[in-house]
Amino acid sequence: MDDLRQVAQSVIQWGALTLLFALAVGVVMIVVVYFIDKTQTAQTIRRNYPVVGRFRYLFEHLGEFFRQYFFAMDREELPFNRAERSWVYKAAKKVDTTIAFGSTRPLNLEGDAIFLNSAFPTLSEDVAEPQPVTVGEGSCNKPYTTKSIINISGMSYGAISSPAIRALSNGAREAGIWMNTGEGGLSAYHLEGGCDIVYQIGTAKYGVRTEDGELCDEKLRKISEHEQVRMFEIKMSQGAKPGKGGILPGIKVTEEISRIRGIPAGADSISPNGHKDIKSVSDLLDMIHRIREVTGKPVGFKMVVGQLDFFDYLFTEVHRRGMQSAPDFITLDSADGGTGAAPQPLMDYMGMPLQESLPLVINSLHTYGLRERVRVICSGKLITPGKVAWALAMGADFVTSARGFMFALGCIQALQCNRNTCPTGITTHDGNLQRGLVPKDKAVRVENFANKIVYGVGLIAHSCGVTQPRKLQRIHVRIIENGGRSVSLAEIHPVPEVKAQYISVADI
Ligand SMILES: Cc1cc2nc3c(=O)[nH]c(=O)nc-3n(C[C@H](O)[C@H](O)[C@H](O)COP(=O)(O)O)c2cc1C
Repeated sequence: MDDLRQVAQSVIQWGALTLLFALAVGVVMIVVVYFIDKTQTAQTIRRNYPVVGRFRYLFEHLGEFFRQYFFAMDREELPFNRAERSWVYKAAKKVDTTIAFGSTRPLNLEGDAIFLNSAFPTLSEDVAEPQPVTVGEGSCNKPYTTKSIINISGMSYGAISSPAIRALSNGAREAGIWMNTGEGGLSAYHLEGGCDIVYQIGTAKYGVRTEDGELCDEKLRKISEHEQVRMFEIKMSQGAKPGKGGILPGIKVTEEISRIRGIPAGADSISPNGHKDIKSVSDLLDMIHRIREVTGKPVGFKMVVGQLDFFDYLFTEVHRRGMQSAPDFITLDSADGGTGAAPQPLMDYMGMPLQESLPLVINSLHTYGLRERVRVICSGKLITPGKVAWALAMGADFVTSARGFMFALGCIQALQCNRNTCPTGITTHDGNLQRGLVPKDKAVRVENFANKIVYGVGLIAHSCGVTQPRKLQRIHVRIIENGGRSVSLAEIHPVPEVKAQYISVADI
């Protein structure tokens, strides 16, 4: 009996010792993994949330097996679905973007585009580089020429963090694309990478304002002296909040941001709903002229399309003043564009989606004989090659993206951009969270994403039988209609006849 008790005791002792040993090994392993995660630079989530952050990758992987039972399908998440996001993540990491088994994109959804492959696809020896495009030719001293197809859309320093801007600016230089400053002014972080920059002038005229909020020519001239600043964009409106100025919560208005913007630190930074000095198409053309005269560089404006007579009035006034007076470019933002912060009624209900506004504006430019004079830039969820190819085929000269590049920086669509708690360090000024975003590593992802888009659009173009992306046309696209039948984009939106002579609104 004693023997049995002794055996039982020693089993318990050994068991306890083994358990203790296993626990100690576990603790040591956790500490080691903690330090590995905290010091590695490749993955923001692991750097910001050592050890537990690893579960994200595990769950993401397991999700592929479990989603049929528990989770939304590939195409059901919003604003960006899993299929689109994972394409961007893979493109940015430069890992294999091929997929297996079959597409999860249903080819019978009304409004979706499909491309028409040629019986004679372009052979690799005939493939050409994207054609360069010049903005502001003949209208200013320093027109801007670039081959870029996809560029970085406006996101202010303030809405996004300094490491995010540094990564974008360095990645943009490597990819040969431009970066738009957003309405928050120009910082050293934008200039750091040496990429081309489009300076945005918002309704509060941050960075180029007098104390009472008027446009200051002297400050504008200073900004234009930076060789990197290639163009100026007047922000009339933004897809996510038409008729509402930018909102930067006080918690994000640091000393540095207040200096760059020319406003008090710690207080909410709220831009007026519109420009106090632009209340008609005439004012808009005057402002474009003034900025072009002061800077010598191309000037255009950004807007989400709303009431359509605006373009008739604008282009008629351009004809009255002469072709030179035209904006050098128009940036069209989609109603479903992103933002750092906006009221839901405006986000959900205001403005026209790009699908509708892009053909309308391009056709209007054709009608008024201005298509060659005014370049068209567009944005709105164009984060995959198919979407970008659609915009080019419709007639856009350039595409820009904000959230596509945020995904390239590691954004996980946590929808916290307005709260200073972004877990990936992109839209927060919390140093602990920013620490995870290592600009040097993420710049490479920005470059990879841009390059992969161009490559992917090239694949579509070559399959359609043209040599390069800018040769895609409406005839290459069909739009799926009710019942799954498709109709040519060229038939839905035929290019109108050019009426180059003076046209009054009454003639249209
Ligand atoms: C965090 C964030 C900040 C933004 N800040 C600006 C801005 O300062 N000025 C602007 O014109 N648009 C701003 N936008 C809108 C984008 O430039 C872009 O027009 C819109 O998100 C559509 O592009 P996307 O669908 O590729 O994101 C911002 C968007 C995001 C997500």
